[in-house]
Amino acid sequence: METLVGKAKVLHEALPYIREFHGKVFVIKYGGSAMTREELRESFAKDVVLLKYVGINVVIVHGGGPQISTTLERFGIKPRFVGGMRKTDEETMHVVEMVLSGDVNKDIVALINRHSGEKVYAVGISGRDGRLLRAVKLNKERYFREIGLPPPSEDVGYVGEIVGVNVDLINSLIERNFIPVIAPVGVGEQGEAYNINADIAASEIARYIKAEKLIFLTDTEGVKDEKGELISSLSESKARELIEKGVIREGMIPKVKSALKALESGVRKVHIIDGRIQHSLLLEIFTQEGIGTEIVHLQT
Ligand SMILES: Nc1ncnc2c1ncn2[C@@H]1O[C@H](COP(=O)(O)OP(=O)(O)OP(=O)(O)O)[C@@H](O)[C@H]1O
Ligand SMILES: [Mg+2]
Repeated sequence: METLVGKAKVLHEALPYIREFHGKVFVIKYGGSAMTREELRESFAKDVVLLKYVGINVVIVHGGGPQISTTLERFGIKPRFVGGMRKTDEETMHVVEMVLSGDVNKDIVALINRHSGEKVYAVGISGRDGRLLRAVKLNKERYFREIGLPPPSEDVGYVGEIVGVNVDLINSLIERNFIPVIAPVGVGEQGEAYNINADIAASEIARYIKAEKLIFLTDTEGVKDEKGELISSLSESKARELIEKGVIREGMIPKVKSALKALESGVRKVHIIDGRIQHSLLLEIFTQEGIGTEIVHLQT
């Protein structure tokens, strides 16, 4: 009996959060590294469906870096990175699109729809569908100036940056109870494809649709300091310092930088959480304790 009452208490603890977030939009970046283990994939899908059924509108943006590299190698193309960005020539762009908009996107859609019931469905689209993510070639100089690192001299090819988001498309899907699952491939003026960093895509989407929360599900506990300890609340100045010192590096840089930009544009909360913990999404959203790193927009 006691355990039964305990279960009721758990639901009760969630009530204030359900009340607060009902009808709001959460953008969830599902990292390529967090989507590997089968039981974690299942718990992610169930969490997403649960969120939708309690009235929280989820928009998923996924990565797929490891999957792209594996496929490139299968085709005999050596993956190359310049300043943390994938060097994307035309051939690589084909593979990026094939893997992201094809394999990875449809796997996630199928996974969610196995648990979705009859009232909600995941729908997979890429930034080229409905000109969802309008892009231009990345301005490398500005990008690196903004993160405070020297720009690499080498050209990165079809790496893009977002200049517009088709908000109507996302909102129409949300309104009809669909869960958009978005592959971060952008579309240029002439319809050409651009490889967009998934963290930045998630954050731009959150900005444009004025999301309540942006959550990065990744393969580490959160942002760690020089001692390797988890930082539970990270401010802008601390983030800048840690990037300069090389403590925040590689895949963590676009998360932190784009998180700050999202907060500046009115996204209420940004969290970086561990996708390797089962139900980490629910723990973050429905409990007081919270997990991972919250990025805060405070000049301290
Ligand atoms: N200070 C830091 N704290 C925590 N992780 C860091 C830090 N600096 C760099 N990292 C790296 O960032 C990685 C997370 O980014 P990564 O790009 O690998 O994953 P992802 O974005 O979740 O997946 P994908 O890029 O496929 O979408 C961590 O696994 C870690 O190696
Ligand atoms: Mg990444």
